[in-house]
Amino acid sequence: MTTRLAIIGAGLMGADHARIFAEELSGASLQVVVDADEARARRVADQCGAADAGIDPEAAILRGDVDAVVIASPDFTHAPLSKACIAAGKPVLCEKPLSQSSAECLEVLEAEMAAGRPFVQLGFMRRYDQSYVEMREALTSGRIGRPLMMHNFHRNVETPAADFTGTMAITNSAPHEFDVVRHVLGCEYASISAWQPRRSDTRVAPVVMVLETLDGQLVTIEVNNNAAYGYDVRAELVGEAGSVAMNHVAYTRTDADLSSGTAYEPDWRGRYAEAYRRQNRDFLRFVATGDFPATASSSWDGYAAAIVAEAGARALSNGTREPVQMIGRPDFYRRAAA
Ligand SMILES: NC(=O)c1ccc[n+]([C@@H]2O[C@H](COP(=O)([O-])OP(=O)(O)OC[C@H]3O[C@@H](n4cnc5c(N)ncnc54)[C@H](O)[C@@H]3O)[C@@H](O)[C@H]2O)c1
Repeated sequence: MTTRLAIIGAGLMGADHARIFAEELSGASLQVVVDADEARARRVADQCGAADAGIDPEAAILRGDVDAVVIASPDFTHAPLSKACIAAGKPVLCEKPLSQSSAECLEVLEAEMAAGRPFVQLGFMRRYDQSYVEMREALTSGRIGRPLMMHNFHRNVETPAADFTGTMAITNSAPHEFDVVRHVLGCEYASISAWQPRRSDTRVAPVVMVLETLDGQLVTIEVNNNAAYGYDVRAELVGEAGSVAMNHVAYTRTDADLSSGTAYEPDWRGRYAEAYRRQNRDFLRFVATGDFPATASSSWDGYAAAIVAEAGARALSNGTREPVQMIGRPDFYRRAAA
């Protein structure tokens, strides 16, 4: 079966998804690329062999020759467009976050439950990264004992926008960490605290968070959006009988000028290239079979990330330790997600 796709949003992520589906995976064809900037949509459509380009996401979702949808437009469009996909009965791979508002996430959950089957696969692709896969395996095999802590670092070269804030580090960057940690530990959060050191300039300073899980584990997360030196993600899972640390991913090391070094990627697309491919392959399988992938994030996971981010933003602004209070997990999502 060939899945006919609409790609909504033709910026960094949309163009990357379009290229992966068109060039690196079998079983997909691109029907239409949509962007608010029509010339950008046309450019990506031409590069990836899509027949059409347009500016109207809803019209693309409703097309009879579109089986499934990829949403890679800005955050505020994710929930409304996901609901449009659910209403049209079309599976959707929606970039993270599902919404920055937990209330809006709940609307997507309700629409999906009313439709009677899962439609939304969320783009928290870290779950497909081999480092986190191996951390989960270390826990399920019992090799490192009961988990005690997880330490996480997320560093970007510089902020995507000049007006980026500490709150945005929590609501836009940290959700990747919130999601993959609860996926690895298999547990929800109980509380979150957040602090920032002071920088000597006006750029946004790192945000350091400490979370407690309902099982009594501690999770530390540093998000440094102005790390200057490269895109660098680190993690270590510490158990009672051992620990698993993520290695720096590099194919080569250069020895020269009396020193030895490995390179950093400029951004996430290179570091997580394989994870995006695995995620997108799982999406095509989901479209073909209707079975929600065991590894993938669901709307429920999007809601969970949004609730933690909201509590984290409050913790940062009030200097308090905030409880993370989620609704009970509906049975629908016990079946739908791992
Ligand atoms: N999974 C990941 O690792 C990852 C990494 C980066 C970004 N993201 C997410 O992907 C999404 C896109 O990020 P990006 O970096 O590609 O941004 P971008 O700014 O490069 O691209 C967004 C595109 O959407 C278009 N657009 C704006 N409003 C639109 C609308 N209403 N309908 C259709 N198109 C519209 C813009 O013209 C632009 O081309 C964001 O939600 C972001 O949070 C995910």
